[in-house]
Amino acid sequence: MTRGDGGDGAGTMSFDIDRARAQTPGCTERIHFNNCGAGLMPEPVIDSLKAHIDLEARIGGYEAAEAADDAVQGAYGAVAGMLNCTPREIAIVENATRGWDMAFYSFDFDPGDRILTCSAEYVSNYVAYLQMVRKTGAIIDIIPDDDHGAVDVDGLENMIDGRVKLIAITHVPTNGGLVNPAAEIGRVARAYGIPYLLDACQSAGQMPLDVEALNVDMLSATSRKYLRGPRGMGFLYVREALIAALEPPFVDLRATVWTAPQEYHLLDDARRFENWECNVAAKIAMGTAVNYALDWGLDAIEARIALLAGALRDGLASIPSVTLRDRGSRRCGIVSFTVANREPAAIVAGLKARGINLSISLATSTQLDMHARGLEALVRAGIHYYNTEEEIARFLEALGQVIRS
Ligand SMILES: Cc1ncc(COP(=O)(O)O)c(C=O)c1O
Repeated sequence: MTRGDGGDGAGTMSFDIDRARAQTPGCTERIHFNNCGAGLMPEPVIDSLKAHIDLEARIGGYEAAEAADDAVQGAYGAVAGMLNCTPREIAIVENATRGWDMAFYSFDFDPGDRILTCSAEYVSNYVAYLQMVRKTGAIIDIIPDDDHGAVDVDGLENMIDGRVKLIAITHVPTNGGLVNPAAEIGRVARAYGIPYLLDACQSAGQMPLDVEALNVDMLSATSRKYLRGPRGMGFLYVREALIAALEPPFVDLRATVWTAPQEYHLLDDARRFENWECNVAAKIAMGTAVNYALDWGLDAIEARIALLAGALRDGLASIPSVTLRDRGSRRCGIVSFTVANREPAAIVAGLKARGINLSISLATSTQLDMHARGLEALVRAGIHYYNTEEEIARFLEALGQVIRS
């Protein structure tokens, strides 16, 4: 192990930054602080993606899938290993949203059934609630925030009654560093026997996610962000005890067996939430990405990210016109901020022109939270373990130039 880029924290000491960067071709071209949009794929992931596409080109798509079946099954094993569950409890789907949808729309809501969610809920989940409300008369209730903007777990417990059908939370919101207390929420859900669906899209790959420790019943995530896998892939975990009770909103030849002209039966594992056609190369490569993250160690990744995101927040806090916008007492690698009298889009464009990738988070992505704070848009920097303190210094220097320009 070589020392990293100069700090003394555990996140730097234990990390072979040179290897992480050598295996990340994108590092050489730009400063990539958009891991909350899409992380840079490391070489092993790129190689497995390309190898399967090459195989498809050589021998045919169906034949390649058959030849690569061990690697395909390995992807389920990798995701299950990361989450501490069985491969039977994993569905691999196109993205986090499709996984989340397959879980959410499997519930039958009656008028008056309550969905408890959080103020940081992600757009695609919230509009699904709105649609469900419109169609069924279910009710959305927002759990109050604690003083730091995270879910207030006591407030959640006070809301529980016999009409609560589902607790559905975003673990890390798309618009900032907040980490919601997913495990404590899970303890409440478990104590009252209420199904609990966690959107772990931004947390997967940047911190450990153990479905037993979290007490979750369903969890969705994507491949392309902190897991550093390819685009167009994601997964859904559904607890074994719940699978048989959930009838997916739509079914196909993957999810079922058509047993007689007028009969079908659903698969008894989480494959019932999948559909038949899929990007096999991306599926295999997502498995590679998960194993790659596990090789680094998710505790070590989280510590390294905390070190770098802390340094970035300190640097931003020292610029008078910058306001940090992250909420939560526990924070992760997404660092959000605004600059006085500057549009976030102009800041992002100015830094892009200087070779630095950031992104913008609009109010339409997290309407409840942004509306309550009177914010239209934020600048988002999503830091990963392969970023360095030197990159943060260069970013702060470039931001100063953009602000002065
Ligand atoms: C919190 C959160 N949930 C869900 C999603 C959707 O993920 P996907 O695009 O893989 O469906 C995002 C994407 O940014 C997100 O930030």
